[in-house]
Amino acid sequence: MDSYTNGVKGIILAGGTGTRLYPITRAVSKQLLPIYDKPMIFYPLSTLMLSGLREILLITTPHDQDAFFRLLGDGTQFGIRITYVVQDQPNGLAEALILGEKFLDGEKCALILGDNLFYGPGLGTHLQENTDVNGALIFAYQVSDPSAYGVVEFDDTGAVISIEEKPAVPKSSYAVPGIYFYDERASEFAHHLKPSARDELEITALNNAYLERGELRVEVLSRATTWLDTGTYESLYEAGGLIRTLQHRSGMRIGDVEQIARDQSWI
Ligand code: G1P
Repeated sequence: MDSYTNGVKGIILAGGTGTRLYPITRAVSKQLLPIYDKPMIFYPLSTLMLSGLREILLITTPHDQDAFFRLLGDGTQFGIRITYVVQDQPNGLAEALILGEKFLDGEKCALILGDNLFYGPGLGTHLQENTDVNGALIFAYQVSDPSAYGVVEFDDTGAVISIEEKPAVPKSSYAVPGIYFYDERASEFAHHLKPSARDELEITALNNAYLERGELRVEVLSRATTWLDTGTYESLYEAGGLIRTLQHRSGMRIGDVEQIARDQSWI
C-alpha cells in the first residue's frame, strides 16, 4: 500500500455505446458530454473522491480511451492515480470486475457507472463510512419509473427477496443506483456469472450472487440525496439544468474534482 491506497479501490465504468443518445454519441463518448459546466465523468469521479478513494481504474471503449486520457491524464493534478483499461465489447457492467481484477489485486472496491450523478449533503461522509464492506453494499432509491433499472423486491419485514434487472412489471418502486461496494471476492464471483438474455454479464446477477449467500446489504438512500442518470435526452437535459440550478442557488460547485482534491488536501 502507498499513500493512494487505503484497501479500497475505485472503478469507473465508462464503456458502452450510448445508442439511446444517437446521434450525439456517435462520435463522442456519452461520459464526456457536458452536464452543464463539466464533463459527465467528473461527477462520478467526484463521488469516488468524496468517498475517500484515490486509486481509480477508468474503463472505457478502445476508441474513447485517448479522449479520457486527454481530459484526466494520470490523475496527478487531482491528487489521485488513474489507471486505464478498455472494454472491447459492451459485455455488461459486471465485466468491470473481471477487467479490473489485476488492478484490484485482491482488494475491496467501489464500482460507479460513468453516467450516474449523485448529489447530497453528507453523502461523501456517509459513503466514506461504508466503503470497507464485508459482502456487498448497494443502494435503493425511489423513482417514478423503476422498470428502466435494477429493481429491489422487499418482503413485509423490509428484507430483500430479489433484485430484478429492468422488469416489465416492477415489484417495488426502488431502483438500484449505479454505485456498488464489494469485498475482495467480486472478481471471483463475476467470473462465475452466466450472460443474460441480452448477452451481458449483469451487475444485478453479481448482486444476486451476494444476496444468495446472505451477504448483500441494501440501504435505502435518503431523499436528501439526488440520484440522476443521464441515459436519455430528457435525463441528460434535466441533469444539466439541475446542476446549474443547484450551483446558482447555493454558490457551491458540484462535481468539481479539483476543488475536492484541494479540500481533501490531496493537492
Ligand atoms: C444499469 C444496471 C441497472 C442499474 C442502472 C443504474 O442499467 O444494469 O441495474 O439500475 O445501471 O443507472 P443500464 O445503464 O445498463 O441501463
